[in-house]
Amino acid sequence: MALREAPAFDPSDPGFLADPYPALNRLREFAPAFYDEQRERWFVTRHEDVRSCLRDKRLGRNFRHVIMPEEIGVPPLDPRWQAFWGTERWSLLWLEPPDHTRIRRLVAAAFTPRSVDALREPARELARELLEPLAEAGEMELLYDYAQPYSIAVICRMLGVPLDRHRDLLEWSHRMVKMYEFDVPDEAAEAANHAAGEFQDYVRALIADRRAHPRDDMVSALVGARVGGARLSDDEIVSTVIVLLNAGHEASVNTLGNGMLASARHEEQWRRVVAGDVAAAAAGEEMIRFDPPLQLFERWVLTDGFSVADVAIPRGAKIAMLFGAANRDPRVFERPDTFDVGRENAAQHIGFGGGIHVCIGAPLARVELEASIAALRRHWPEFELAEEPQRTGAFVIWGLQGLRLARR
Ligand code: HEM
Repeated sequence: MALREAPAFDPSDPGFLADPYPALNRLREFAPAFYDEQRERWFVTRHEDVRSCLRDKRLGRNFRHVIMPEEIGVPPLDPRWQAFWGTERWSLLWLEPPDHTRIRRLVAAAFTPRSVDALREPARELARELLEPLAEAGEMELLYDYAQPYSIAVICRMLGVPLDRHRDLLEWSHRMVKMYEFDVPDEAAEAANHAAGEFQDYVRALIADRRAHPRDDMVSALVGARVGGARLSDDEIVSTVIVLLNAGHEASVNTLGNGMLASARHEEQWRRVVAGDVAAAAAGEEMIRFDPPLQLFERWVLTDGFSVADVAIPRGAKIAMLFGAANRDPRVFERPDTFDVGRENAAQHIGFGGGIHVCIGAPLARVELEASIAALRRHWPEFELAEEPQRTGAFVIWGLQGLRLARR
């Protein structure tokens, strides 16, 4: 019997990017897992299977600790982008156990429920300070004027990073995360590499300062930390601080942008939030489910004999999990294409991942999102789109170029 062909899937196609969900829904209903010749990877589409892949120890974000690249035909890392790879080298998102366990444990020690809870009040205050003048002005570009300065301030406060260079931090991050897209053009890689170099210099200076003058902050804690008697190397600290800073705002900002766009398009849902019928925190979960800020994460198959949904996938193969498809899976969510801020099981979304790489910042992201939605509810209860927003053109890091809103 001839195999059915997978429906067309081109994440760089403007038609797809204008609204990827019809295509993602077709792919999910076509098969739980399928191979894409052009991109040389397996796509996994359904909630149950994405969830199980995230937790499967036979899969890794990296393979280099157990497989030589040439054995599975993976070209060496492009030496032109050395500064970028140097930053990735000790990032939690690049590591696998035992290095991942060692560094993640140190970071987790800082993300205690208490330390995250201590940011609740400052987050509320910050949201208010930013939104009040914008409400008076009657118009804002939600990402630039509000979500970006808000999220970067929260994560900088958590880490103890000063805010004077916050626009640089945002710019470095935006350039670096382009490397996670498919088919990265040389100019984008060059820009990411340059940004990584500048970012490293900045963090190295910060480390030197905290070593000389320790404070009660996370950078000082990482500088002073010992695991089994050994200190972290400067390279390890640099990568850790950079991944926390970048991951600490990119997804939060895009969650708010995507979520407030959905709220503008479904006014009746936003009115439920404003009326207090639905809690801000619950609305935040539905925002992540309905239009997740991260659409795709990848894993390598590290062992023989792996299969997902009865599809055998060989050792050394690459798997891409489609979060947007999984979050709209009708097997888990009723009327999945409906934005329903009061949805009871919205928090079953897989937006924060799972398994050993599960988002370490999820508790902070939730505190932050709740405070920012609550502040919008108060200071921006009635609004409309001031213009039709544009997507960034990227798929993996899924967001808007901007979101101009006018207060009514
Ligand atoms: C709504 C906001 C956020 C979303 C949707 C999100 C989503 C995710 C996801 C899906 C992963 C797992 C990646 C994988 O399995 O391959 C992840 C990992 C991570 N996230 Fe978040 N994140 C958010 C906010 C944050 C914040 C505020 C921080 C602040 C520190 C953060 C820090 C991290 C880090 C460091 C990792 C890597 C963990 C590891 O590899 O062990 N994230 N995030």
